[in-house]
Amino acid sequence: MSDEQESMDLFGDMHPYNKLFQVFSKLPEKGLDEAEVLREIAHMSDEENAKWQNGQCSGTMYHGGMEHYDFLNKVFSMYSYVNLLQRDLCPSGTKFEAEVLSMVAKMLHGEEVTKLNARDEVAGAITSGGSESIYNAMYVYREWGREQKGITQAEVIAPSTIHPAHLKAAHYLGMKVIQVPVTADFEADVEAMRAQITPNTVALAGSAGNYPNGVVDPISELSELALEFKIGLHVDGCLGGFILPWIEKLGYDVPVFDFRLPGVTSISCDTHKYGYSLKGTSTVNFRNKDLRRYMYFAQEDWSGGIYASPTIQGSRSAGLSAAMWAAMVSTGEEGYLKAAKAIMDAADKIRAGIANIPELCIMGKTTFLISVTSDMVDPYFVNDYLSMKGWRMNGCQNPPGFHFCITLPQTQPGIAERFVKDLADGVTFAKDPPYEAPKSGFLYGMGASADGREILRQGLKSWVDASYEVE
Ligand SMILES: Cc1ncc(COP(=O)(O)O)c(C=O)c1O
Repeated sequence: MSDEQESMDLFGDMHPYNKLFQVFSKLPEKGLDEAEVLREIAHMSDEENAKWQNGQCSGTMYHGGMEHYDFLNKVFSMYSYVNLLQRDLCPSGTKFEAEVLSMVAKMLHGEEVTKLNARDEVAGAITSGGSESIYNAMYVYREWGREQKGITQAEVIAPSTIHPAHLKAAHYLGMKVIQVPVTADFEADVEAMRAQITPNTVALAGSAGNYPNGVVDPISELSELALEFKIGLHVDGCLGGFILPWIEKLGYDVPVFDFRLPGVTSISCDTHKYGYSLKGTSTVNFRNKDLRRYMYFAQEDWSGGIYASPTIQGSRSAGLSAAMWAAMVSTGEEGYLKAAKAIMDAADKIRAGIANIPELCIMGKTTFLISVTSDMVDPYFVNDYLSMKGWRMNGCQNPPGFHFCITLPQTQPGIAERFVKDLADGVTFAKDPPYEAPKSGFLYGMGASADGREILRQGLKSWVDASYEVE
């Protein structure tokens, strides 16, 4: 197959409906019949829901219950057209967001900060997702560093497992993230991070848990380090922030990562993941209001009137905030605990199954997310086999492997057992694969050299281009 054919296929894979439905590269002259629009959309939605409803998809669908989504959609529909920027028109939005932030702060033991220092009080903001929460935290540290320490080349030190949203924020903000290799246990190497601290360091960052392996970094040690050097510490709890507190309450051994630690100055925590709300919401929480203030923007002399905004977004839908609030108050502590228990039961079954497959090993100490590698077989061949069996894992690298982020769809009866069986069969497949290079590892192989990495980076950008092209 020529390169051109290959890229055409990539395009085709991204646009499977071009063959089924009319492609609109310009507005239709006459509007379509609404019933027809709904039919087309329902076709695509049904087809795509089937890909994860069987419980074979890692992460991404955190709740998966259609009744729950119907309820949230009902709430959303009452506010979908309301702009939360116009607070006077929807004081209900203010109620929803303030209460969500208070509930999240409580879940993250926010009351402890005031006990330690009467002037502190956890102060948060609602954002559009984990990346924006992280962006806002990074921005706060840059501004804090500039104002309090005169730092103009702000640096944040983070383990190599930190989510790319930190690097993306640094890219936008003219900051630098210094990535430090993790320990053999896939945890932040605190001493190696200490060695990178310079007068330009504004903050440290760690995860609870990290995306590649689900590992919670030693946040208590990072907290001590941050206090010692009088710098910030951001905890990326986008993934684990909404489930680890409940896993801890269930009695599992979860390292403390939240505001109980005196050096933790901010935590990102996503409502649209294990908070079980609709996509498009997250929270970022600071140790005190002074820190949060660095994030705000206000212009008092604009010809269009006075303007103030806490985060990146301007106009935004009150529907998402209403649904976020509704998800939290309808689930309640009892619901979050029940969900965490079901998820941990499934994860424990999978962990026990993996312990019986000598060729595989789990990366790090984990709870709801299981990351698998092997030094006996190529894990990408195992993943190829799992793909053939309908599983959708997330590929990892350094070392090669894949992870399974366990969510509620995996708690359906029999899923964990079927996964363990397919995993064992995948190892047999990987011992004598019928082709030379594993399909799921093909891109990762390029990361071995600087040239390969550059080609890969450009390829990824072309892939993004393709996602915005109609035909
Ligand atoms: C640990 C972690 N941080 C940050 C993010 C980014 O969140 P989002 O995709 O909502 O922007 C993710 C997403 O999976 C994550 O797992």
